[in-house]
Amino acid sequence: MTASHRSSPRSLTAEPSSALEGSIRVPGDKSISHRALIFGALAVGETRIEGLLEGEDVLATAEIMRQFGATVTRTGEGAWSVHGVGVGGLKEPEAPLDFGNSGTGARLIMGLVAGHPITATFIGDASLSRRPMGRVIDPLSLMGAHFHARDGGKMPLTLTGARPAMPITYRSPVASAQVKSAILLAGLNAPGETCVIEPVPTRDHTERMLRAFGAQVDTREGEGGLEIRLVGQPELTPCPITVPGDPSSAAFPVVAALIVPGSEVIVKGITLNPHRAGLYTTLMEMGGDIEVMNQRDEGGEPVADLRVRSSRLRGIDVPPARAASMIDEYPVLAIAAAFAEGETRMSGIHELRVKESDRIAATASGLRANGVKVHETEDSMTVEGRSGDVGGGGHVATHMDHRIAMSFLVMGLATQKPVTIDDGAMIATSFPDFTHLMRGLGASIIGQGQ
Ligand code: S3P
Repeated sequence: MTASHRSSPRSLTAEPSSALEGSIRVPGDKSISHRALIFGALAVGETRIEGLLEGEDVLATAEIMRQFGATVTRTGEGAWSVHGVGVGGLKEPEAPLDFGNSGTGARLIMGLVAGHPITATFIGDASLSRRPMGRVIDPLSLMGAHFHARDGGKMPLTLTGARPAMPITYRSPVASAQVKSAILLAGLNAPGETCVIEPVPTRDHTERMLRAFGAQVDTREGEGGLEIRLVGQPELTPCPITVPGDPSSAAFPVVAALIVPGSEVIVKGITLNPHRAGLYTTLMEMGGDIEVMNQRDEGGEPVADLRVRSSRLRGIDVPPARAASMIDEYPVLAIAAAFAEGETRMSGIHELRVKESDRIAATASGLRANGVKVHETEDSMTVEGRSGDVGGGGHVATHMDHRIAMSFLVMGLATQKPVTIDDGAMIATSFPDFTHLMRGLGASIIGQGQ
């Protein structure tokens, strides 16, 4: 069991802070970290990983790769070595696989198991057990996997993989990199070509990493959307991986620097993969002073440093077509919007209702508790900006959601009165060093044991 399951709730309070200053690195990208461990476990030989995110979600994936027979070793800070078992070589796990809070780990690894003739039981915490798995159960069942899930396709569930998996062509009804990746992972051990058609392109870390490990993956624009084709049963060859900084984690110090007057913060080495950079485009459109510096390519991903200075923000309409490229960043964008002048309208965001929490509801009620007006519909949220003058003083329920927790701590650094969150324990799933790093910039975040 991961630490956040064991510990009792730890409330945290963010207080109005003076200017934030300094230069930081945020932890490794969560999406890339999960994939590095999974592909390492499928390659024959040793995969060396640098900069791995050592958050609870990724550590759960590391442990699960061990349960499948891979040798996974930590060799230093963020440095890991994986000796894989080869595509088709996964051993049947002897105990249930515990994913904790991690939807990405659970859904990707359902794809992995679906392509192997083994049975595994998937368990997780209360938040993960509420999330919909039908979106992966449907295509993986078409490939020949069998699921016994709770009513409504929820975890805990038991999955028996196909013998052998059948390649399919699947048009995903949801814009989800997790669904795409689950199908491609199952397709790895299927004879022939597996094709996923995405109506809206999503993050492409799986495709990039598969190619780096020697698989044949072709992407082209088709009539129904982006077609991603994988030739099954490749021999994956290990490839050293340097995990870039996570733009979804960088979002918190970046928004903090924008809203706390007088701040200037540099965030180094984050990936600005175009499928991940939507928040930064949006903040710049809102008038955010964000300078993109030292653009480079690191390990197949575009990487840059950002210099951020506090800014007078203006509300905008965020185009729904941008949603997939900033899907995890709407809660913290809503915080920036609360400090902006005028309304910020975010639409096409129904997927936020099925993340670690219902993020539209959790964000809206947190904002209201702090004196900000919000209008929500099933798939949109409009925040009435208060031109820098946000009352605060509220208590925010985080609903076991790390990004809700961090967003409202960021808010409390610039409100008139402190903002308290009910539980900061979940922050350890994606950004274990968050409070420490923010304090290093001058943020006042107080709470026991942090
Ligand atoms: C992820 C994809 C996104 C994102 C999640 C990580 C991934 O989910 O919200 O945090 O690593 O593939 P969806 O693909 O379900 O939108």
